[in-house]
Amino acid sequence: MRHSTTHSESPIVSWYRGLFMHMPCMDSLDVLEETLIGVDQNGTIASILSPTADNYQQTLQMVRQNGSLQQMTPRQLMIPGLTDLHVHAPQWPQLGMALHLPLQDWLERYTFPLEARYSDLDFARQVYASLVSTLLANGTTTAMYFATLHEEATELLASTCLELGQRAHVGRVAMDHAGQCPDYYRDADARAAIAASERSIRAIRGLDNNRSALVKPVITPRFIPSCTNELLTGLGELASDTHCHVQTHCSESDWEHDHVLQRLGKSDTQALADFGLLTRHTVLAHSNFISDHDMALIHEAGGGIAHCPLSNSYFANSVFPLRRALQKSLRVGLGTDIAGGHSASMFDSCQHAVAVSRLLESGVDTRLPTTERGSSASRIDFLEAFHLATAGGAEVLDNPTGSFQVGRQFDALLLDLDNPDNRLDEFQHAASWEDLLGCIIHNAQPCNMQQVWVAGHCVAAGSGDGFARS
Ligand code: GUN
Ligand code: FE
Repeated sequence: MRHSTTHSESPIVSWYRGLFMHMPCMDSLDVLEETLIGVDQNGTIASILSPTADNYQQTLQMVRQNGSLQQMTPRQLMIPGLTDLHVHAPQWPQLGMALHLPLQDWLERYTFPLEARYSDLDFARQVYASLVSTLLANGTTTAMYFATLHEEATELLASTCLELGQRAHVGRVAMDHAGQCPDYYRDADARAAIAASERSIRAIRGLDNNRSALVKPVITPRFIPSCTNELLTGLGELASDTHCHVQTHCSESDWEHDHVLQRLGKSDTQALADFGLLTRHTVLAHSNFISDHDMALIHEAGGGIAHCPLSNSYFANSVFPLRRALQKSLRVGLGTDIAGGHSASMFDSCQHAVAVSRLLESGVDTRLPTTERGSSASRIDFLEAFHLATAGGAEVLDNPTGSFQVGRQFDALLLDLDNPDNRLDEFQHAASWEDLLGCIIHNAQPCNMQQVWVAGHCVAAGSGDGFARS
């Protein structure tokens, strides 16, 4: 691909030169060698120059002289920042805990008691700072968060993302169903829940340092079982009034899917559509049991799906039909589902997405004949998973991130193969760019993430030497 400069309203303040890999489209890896990328004051990529561009040498000389060039070493490369579409921020302290339980028991015995503790803002401050900085160190430049039903702690999560520089979508959880939510952790009633959600949207949009809307509010009915029809109707109206994002769990497990069918006589997707909660700005977590009709509804509304392969392996009794969704042109990204999933790494999510797709395709019950075991043509490969974790997730959120293109925000990771603690240096002789990226996705650790940028700002830096001198 050849690139040349386009002009920007605001001056270019930083230039980066070296190897960039990204996947704007799912079907091919795009590799930019010895390329110069210029980022303006607003964090927007204002110029991409390949070595064959007319003004490449002249620009290189100029930016070397004026000190704005950061030159990668031959052992460094950049990829776009990673987007995690489904994180329960308050569940960070229970990472890896009690995953042997069925979802309902896990929620009742572990999750709800933990989430109720976020009335304590000191506790919330500690946990949220730890979570957001860990995700940034893992290269997650955008996260979509469920918070708790506490307005103050939800605002604190949004402020923490702003302070630490993470692009985020933050939702106050709404849950008012007396039969499904414990007395100690429930909205008083639908009206109170809707009012609190509305205030939370205003508070996040109005945060002092949020003028560029780096952090956006999200209408967040936990899932249909925990919400009354009155609440779901009110939140649908709120979505239409505020044009806010919406997130919820959709057709996650046998229990949850059947519960909604029995209560409402229709699928989660159909119900969400009828409540006004399925829009272009909706992200449906899991969606394992969605039918072809549900997929058509999601496609028509333009909604997106957060595929959470690790969490699904524990709680969902199923594998999300990813290939089927992609064939129907649904927008899909990946989510860790912390703490239903026990890893904070989106590279791990990529690995899990590939692994479960292989199991779905081949099937697992060896008592059945090979040809009857699985669901044919379901697999994805690591490149497709990488696309989902970068450009795919960004597309679901309509964020201008996820690839290196003029006009997009510079959300990026600098990977260094030379970190003394790493597991990557033995791969320096990979035979192809695809092989190298495969090694990175399967082996890179936070110590390999030399620097992480969101909107042009460096928000995390590793322990190595950083860039070579220009
Ligand atoms: N369904 C409702 N709440 C939750 C949750 O916290 N985690 C998961 N995985 N599923 C849910
Ligand atoms: Fe979840």
